[in-house]
Amino acid sequence: MTTHFYTASSLDGFIATPEHSLEWLLSQDFDLEGPMAYPAFITRIGALVMGASTYEWLLREQQAWEYTQPAWVFTHRDLPVVDGADLRFAQGSVTEVFGDIAEAAGDKDIWVVGGGDLAGQFADAGLLDEIWVQFAPVTLGDGHPLLPRDLRLELLEVARNRGFVCAHHRVIKDE
Ligand SMILES: NC(=O)c1ccc[n+]([C@@H]2O[C@H](COP(=O)([O-])OP(=O)(O)OC[C@H]3O[C@@H](n4cnc5c(N)ncnc54)[C@H](OP(=O)(O)O)[C@@H]3O)[C@@H](O)[C@H]2O)c1
Repeated sequence: MTTHFYTASSLDGFIATPEHSLEWLLSQDFDLEGPMAYPAFITRIGALVMGASTYEWLLREQQAWEYTQPAWVFTHRDLPVVDGADLRFAQGSVTEVFGDIAEAAGDKDIWVVGGGDLAGQFADAGLLDEIWVQFAPVTLGDGHPLLPRDLRLELLEVARNRGFVCAHHRVIKDE
């Protein structure tokens, strides 16, 4: 089982503006059948994990909950529940919840959807294995950071998808 952080980023390392806008990303052209595209990635995923802001963005911006996999939302608050979604709310240590997430994923992988600090919490615990980033041809200057941690990575794959630079890395863990 592999835990992936798969996300898009501005070239200067932000995954959303300070106001949680993704307009800079959604206005870009991306080939969904091209390299490192989402439709192929999601087929390997058995469980999702996200932070409260990412969940709230999905509630605000998506017409319907599109995920069939169980999804864990890390939050300290009581957030609205989407009808029909397989949601579990959690808080505190990602290590304590990881066993449940891995069990739910079965023989598939785990996707840390975002944000960057939550992916960092998995990395802190030695539980983040791979990082996939589609870098959009945009700089934002400020916003929510891609992955605010000090990590060493091995580049596994790099590709161009329309205007995006797509990079796939493995997290090098202390042996
Ligand atoms: N570019 C992309 O492809 C992409 C991908 C994913 C997300 N995004 C966007 O990026 C932004 C990310 O927002 P963000 O940086 O604020 O990160 P986030 O992880 O989505 O949300 C952070 C919040 O999650 C809760 N949280 C995180 N860890 C927790 C823990 N261990 N225990 C309990 N609660 C915890 C806290 O909320 P509370 O304490 O308030 O509950 C925290 O303030 C969003 O706008 C999202 O839509 C972009």
